[in-house]
Amino acid sequence: MGVHILSVEATEPAAVIVLAAGAGTRMKSAKPKILHEIGGRSMVGHAIAAASGLEPQKLVAVVRHERDRVVEHLLEIAPSLIIADQDEVPGTGRAVQLGLAALPEHTEGTIVVTYGDVPLLTTSLLRELVAVHEVDENSVTVLTALLDDATGYGRILRADDGTVIGIVEHKDATDEQLAIREINSGIYAFDAAVLRDALAQVTTDNAQAEMYLTDVLGIARRAGGRVAAVVTGDRWQVEGVNDRVQLAALGAEMNRRIVEKWMRAGVTVIDPATTWIGVEVALSNDVTIKPGTQLHGLTAIGTDAIIGPDTTLTNVRVGRGASVVRSDATDSQIGAGATVGPFAYLRPKTDLGEQGKIGAFYETKNVTIGTGSKLSHLGYAGDAEIGEYTNIGCGNITANYDGVNKHRTVIGSHVRTSSNTVFVAPVSIGDGAYTGAGAIVRKDVPAGALALSIAPQRNAEGWTVAKRPGSASAQAAEAAH
Ligand SMILES: CC(C)(COP(=O)(O)OP(=O)(O)OC[C@H]1O[C@@H](n2cnc3c(N)ncnc32)[C@H](O)[C@@H]1OP(=O)(O)O)[C@@H](O)C(=O)NCCC(=O)NCCS
Repeated sequence: MGVHILSVEATEPAAVIVLAAGAGTRMKSAKPKILHEIGGRSMVGHAIAAASGLEPQKLVAVVRHERDRVVEHLLEIAPSLIIADQDEVPGTGRAVQLGLAALPEHTEGTIVVTYGDVPLLTTSLLRELVAVHEVDENSVTVLTALLDDATGYGRILRADDGTVIGIVEHKDATDEQLAIREINSGIYAFDAAVLRDALAQVTTDNAQAEMYLTDVLGIARRAGGRVAAVVTGDRWQVEGVNDRVQLAALGAEMNRRIVEKWMRAGVTVIDPATTWIGVEVALSNDVTIKPGTQLHGLTAIGTDAIIGPDTTLTNVRVGRGASVVRSDATDSQIGAGATVGPFAYLRPKTDLGEQGKIGAFYETKNVTIGTGSKLSHLGYAGDAEIGEYTNIGCGNITANYDGVNKHRTVIGSHVRTSSNTVFVAPVSIGDGAYTGAGAIVRKDVPAGALALSIAPQRNAEGWTVAKRPGSASAQAAEAAH
């Protein structure tokens, strides 16, 4: 097994063909296997991302199972992708042949073959594969992995000079071959012309009646081509997902890698084991993430922010120095220096300004909150606009829904609202206005006014002793007289 010292950079391959046609029956899912997600991205999305990183001239996906659903997803993530449909002839050899047929005629150069269900494969390992393939002028270069336990995998047979003689399937292997720890990943770089010619000779004349891609290796070698291998010690990168046990295992490993990457980039993660970070999340240095935190989608966190514990953010932008404690937020923005939680629920389009606050047991939705404004405890703010440095009292509610339509509440700057104010939308409150405790605000409040709901208070003297005689309260009342 030779060690390659790469003296030249890999060029852009002519094409990457991503095989994405399989049914994935062991997932036992109505959803196609390759659309299942890890790290916040579909498995085929990871395959497309790794392939795209090579900047191939063409990117092809071969599809068959749930074709329309898969194609819709693929074109969403890679609009310029070429779709090739696998026909009724089974096997990876046929899939690659059809992928090749979707490319311009006489395509030359390197063709890379990858899979929609191998989500941890990286661009850099593919780049190494292509570089070795091109520098060594191979006909075929197979990516292989060294496993401690290679049970079940196809073993790589090497000649004395290190070139690959062939691949023997586990069930066909001799005892001596079973001791080989180097396995076939199924990921290859091919010379386009060699691949085209070899596939034309591959038949379905075997026990499974499938066109095997592995047959190309023998054909290429017999034609005088060099067949070699690039071996990786990182088995996760070539591991496929067949069932949900593997999905979880690869998901955990991907997360471990993502969390480690961010720690090395200057993020403090108190408990990596309970921290989940999606592949598209962006973190700044000196962010602190506390245990039980999940960051999903396009979430981006600014420097010095503290997130968690027990917080889930999906597509949320958090400004520098903000803190979010035991809360859940989606499609929202949290300004620099703002505080959220504990136990806040920010629904989509919550925009909390700098130094603002959404405190304990608050729910918000479609609300813009200006700089320094605070909604400290126990309430709901939806379809509302709140100015700057306003203080919304405990238990305030924007009553935005009249049973048929939603209406807006507009609250100015430097407003002070008292406990249990209900804003019956549509309604607006001018700058510097106040509300009294328990106010039900149904009419607009001019700037600087105090809005009150006058419900006269009546004290029924001696009620407790008369109506709850002998109770602890009655005894306390008697003692007070
Ligand atoms: C609004 C509030 C701050 C006004 O306090 P204040 O300075 O004592 O008010 P005033 O004495 O000027 O009262 C003005 C008038 O409003 C009435 N009023 C005051 N608060 C009222 C209320 N919540 N409901 C009905 N009427 C009220 C007063 O009886 C008074 O009426 P009057 O002029 O006929 O006598 C106060 O009443 C209040 O509601 N405080 C609660 C604050 C709160 O909830 N803080 C916690 C926020 S989390």
